[in-house]
Amino acid sequence: MSGTVSIRTYGCQMNEADSEAMAGLLEGEGWAVTDDEAAADVVLLNTCCVRRHAEERVWNALFALRARAAEGGLIVGVCGCMAQWRGEEIVRRAPHVRVVCGTRAFARLPDLIRRAAAGGAVVDVGEGGLPAGPLPRTRRGALKALVPVMRGCGNFCAYCVVPYVRGPEESRPPGEIAAAVEALARDGCREVTLLGQNVNGYAAAGVPFAGLLRIVGGTGIARIRFLTSHPKDLSDGLIRAIAEVPQVCEHLHLPLQAGSDRVLERMRRGCAYGRYRALVVRIRAAVPGIAISTDLMAGFPGETADDFERTLGAMEELRFDAAFLFKYSDREGTTAAAMGPKVPPAEIAERHARMLDLQSRIGLERNRERIGGTEEVLVEGPSARDPRRLFGRSRTNRRVVFEGDGALIGTLACATIRDATPLTLIGAPRAA
Ligand code: 5AD
Ligand code: SF4
Repeated sequence: MSGTVSIRTYGCQMNEADSEAMAGLLEGEGWAVTDDEAAADVVLLNTCCVRRHAEERVWNALFALRARAAEGGLIVGVCGCMAQWRGEEIVRRAPHVRVVCGTRAFARLPDLIRRAAAGGAVVDVGEGGLPAGPLPRTRRGALKALVPVMRGCGNFCAYCVVPYVRGPEESRPPGEIAAAVEALARDGCREVTLLGQNVNGYAAAGVPFAGLLRIVGGTGIARIRFLTSHPKDLSDGLIRAIAEVPQVCEHLHLPLQAGSDRVLERMRRGCAYGRYRALVVRIRAAVPGIAISTDLMAGFPGETADDFERTLGAMEELRFDAAFLFKYSDREGTTAAAMGPKVPPAEIAERHARMLDLQSRIGLERNRERIGGTEEVLVEGPSARDPRRLFGRSRTNRRVVFEGDGALIGTLACATIRDATPLTLIGAPRAA
């Protein structure tokens, strides 16, 4: 069977990486993967369910596809986390959906589509659909690549669905990862992001994550990033590897979630604020100039006004270079869903707005500290806002726009920073 497939991705980078693997698998079976959703024979939504809002976006997208599906011909599929979480319920609420493919079933996706084309709906949220070896991948760009190194999470933070929808932690063998990165580097890729829900929980063939960084550092790749680290598992060995492996960029994403120990304990984070703060101090001492970004949440059940002030206090004290700020969202089945008292939505919205304001100020101050310095930028292409300028990311993962020759695209260039906004550095180029 063949035709055209489009894949729309929601959620995190792990989903983006899974979409690339789905595209690779389908192309291997003769399908043409297209961005033109309106013309595709099969539309797949690779979904997220970490917050209610993410699911609502998918339901809305599904209902928007109903008329086209009713005309006949179009196969609509739901893949990934929400497929795993909701299973049959998706077909009950949206009977025009013909394929539901969970997080561990996607190697069977070509077969599921074939079966759906023969009539009816096919739901597969089973195990065993992840092949042992490397997956074929169709990547979006040649310059930067996402490389999953482990999947799943066994932490069961009280608010989080990930352990339920992604299953227990599983790490890929280091040799397989090194071979994949070597091949990418040979093909002109300059930067890899090693991915895992709990990446510093990586362990395979006796190699911990710090060891993996050292191995990947020897593959010929110019830059290495990694996501997401858990503070409770961040070892001194890993801090040393970040400091010592020259390819590892000076950026660490280290979710804190809240500033109050009472809340952190109820969240089951396994890392109190004082320990987190001490880690940040150690990392900043070992890796000068490192950027630390975080995730924070407002309105966890039982969070008092005083607890929340501690989150703002942590932001002031630690001055994150970037922060992803979320409103707590109740996910049924998680431990937190059964906890009370719930913080009223209006109160959550107000706390969230205060975090946004504060981070905007801190982000601007942090970026202004870079004015007058130079940044190594991996130049990705013209800036979307102003095509006369170039866009790229610094080693600390800051967005940089600068005036420069189009010939710099695809290279590591140096930009002298002359201005800053909360999210972007503005620079003039110099020879690399
Ligand atoms: N509500 C709000 N935010 C959540 N996150 C995970 N689960 C929830 C939830 N139920 C946030 C956490 C995590 C990030 C990926 O998403 O901050 O680090
Ligand atoms: Fe979710 Fe916690 Fe695992 Fe992160 S570490 S994926 S927040 S359970």
